[in-house]
Amino acid sequence: VAQVARRVAEGLHEHRGEPVDVGLVEAAALLHDIAKALCFETHLDHAAEGGRILRGLGLEAVATLVERHVILGAWDPEGVVTEAEIVNYADKRVRNDQVVSLTERFDDLIVRYGARPEIEARIRGNWAVMAAVEAKIFARLPFTPAEVRPRRPARGPR
Ligand SMILES: [Fe+2]
Repeated sequence: VAQVARRVAEGLHEHRGEPVDVGLVEAAALLHDIAKALCFETHLDHAAEGGRILRGLGLEAVATLVERHVILGAWDPEGVVTEAEIVNYADKRVRNDQVVSLTERFDDLIVRYGARPEIEARIRGNWAVMAAVEAKIFARLPFTPAEVRPRRPARGPR
């Protein structure tokens, strides 16, 4: 997730000069599920709980992004791409350790969690938001969603 988020953030910064904080995006993407294991047992909201933990460590800006990684909340389709949009979107492009399309990710969510119609409807609503965020992001990038692959570390001579 951090590698996808970084790739998108760097792209926006390099190709558009957008004022995106790449380091903040990467930090939040690395830490977004910090409370997930804890919440398997407690059934608390892992996004809210992650935000609480990070705020307790003084990481206010990271906390705000982590809180929004499951449900983005209010966003502006016309404005600059925000760090919250990038982290939320990157999380939807990864299943386990694989980069996947939004369709693959949301199909999987519906199979795993969509047994009740109201839950499936909520997942589909979130999918529609993510499709719009993806369109906003990639209207500003010289590569497509399918071309988002993490940059591999440069290799030295053999
Ligand atoms: Fe999560």
